[in-house]
Amino acid sequence: MDYDIAEREIKEMIANVKNSNLLQKIVDYLYENFERYSWVGIYIVKGNDLILGAWGGEHATEHTKIPIGKGICGSAAQSGKIELIPDVNKDNRYLACFVSTRSEIVVPIKRNMNVVGEIDIDSDMSNAFSKQDAFFLEKIADMLGKHIC
Ligand code: SME
Repeated sequence: MDYDIAEREIKEMIANVKNSNLLQKIVDYLYENFERYSWVGIYIVKGNDLILGAWGGEHATEHTKIPIGKGICGSAAQSGKIELIPDVNKDNRYLACFVSTRSEIVVPIKRNMNVVGEIDIDSDMSNAFSKQDAFFLEKIADMLGKHIC
């Protein structure tokens, strides 16, 4: 899938979809259109935790609530910076969800400079995420920031 087309389609989706369905539509779109994305989730910050708001993939994760500061997800929420992990087994912060996962990217969603959520994607391929993925997902996160309160 071409990143520019995906960006345009997601932008339209955000403009047209009712807020209650939006997160699910976006994770479904990313999961279905990008082969390397084996599991796609959006977590929302609630107090000191990240709560899983929507996900797309073959299996549910047991990590539906992650304290900020814990795991790769919690680190990205704390720092506000993208985490791009080419090999999850070499990162001791990693909280395992699926045995098949090899790499992961976490992109914070911000509103007025504050982290309000994040996009978390696992891949069964090692080194699956490029700077292009980071750039693309950051744009999606920027669009979403305006819709998550
Ligand atoms: N691997 C994440 C936990 C979430 S699962 O990938 C769905 C982490 O280390 O924070």
